Amino acid sequence: MQIVNCSKKDFDQILLEIADFWGDDRLLYLHHPILLYEFGNTAYVIKEGDRIVAYLFGFLSQTDPAAYVHLVGVRQSHRRKGLGRQLYENFIAFAKTRGCTKIRAITLPTMIQSIAFHKSIGMELLGNPNEDGIPVVKDYSGPVCAFQTLDLGIALCSAVKLAADLNIDNRMMYTVGVAAKDLKLLDADIIVGIPLSVSGKSPYFDRT
Ligand SMILES: CC(C)(COP(=O)(O)OP(=O)(O)OC[C@H]1O[C@@H](n2cnc3c(N)ncnc32)[C@H](O)[C@@H]1OP(=O)(O)O)[C@@H](O)C(=O)NCCC(=O)NCCS
Repeated sequence: MQIVNCSKKDFDQILLEIADFWGDDRLLYLHHPILLYEFGNTAYVIKEGDRIVAYLFGFLSQTDPAAYVHLVGVRQSHRRKGLGRQLYENFIAFAKTRGCTKIRAITLPTMIQSIAFHKSIGMELLGNPNEDGIPVVKDYSGPVCAFQTLDLGIALCSAVKLAADLNIDNRMMYTVGVAAKDLKLLDADIIVGIPLSVSGKSPYFDRT
């Protein structure tokens, strides 16, 4: 299938249908329009008719002879057909014409499929092994910010206060968050659980 540069219409379609590429919209915020407006010559899509089935948004480093893949996504229905590999090969070929000798990308240690894909196209993981033995670069984007944590606490207090105003019994439970982290239910640095109850009696606290 042919690879073409991403248009504004294509970009909008990706944003609207992002869950089909990523499973949900949690990475919508990474799809900044500068990828289209300022790095449009390295923003690629593969289409079937008007429908985008795969895309890669990258750019060339300004500090290093390196190409960087910011996002690569393939629709669920079109995976394992070589589209991801094709997009990478196309970007690498372009980057070589601009003198690049390296290609980089970032993924999370929890994104097993992404890791398998990147390894299969010849990339290697950097960093030191985490508790699961997967190499990670710690604090790549800095440590957890204390102010953001404070903000989270304030937001949580507002949420439980509103629930209380509506007579919904609730608690903030840190242990639920720890369990959710251990079970890898959510990919987050901090998780707090808030059980809600509208029954006559709290399932968590005996008030007799
Ligand atoms: C990762 C992703 C881009 C791969 O795209 P794709 O078009 O399905 O990949 P390809 O068909 O080119 O696969 C090339 C090779 O990668 C490996 N691979 C791809 N997906 C894999 C998976 N889910 N599990 C294990 N290996 C996988 C295989 O070795 C594959 O070759 P094979 O099919 O001949 O065995 C796609 O699964 C996707 O969009 N995932 C969601 C978004 C995402 O995680 N993006 C990357 C984040 S950094």
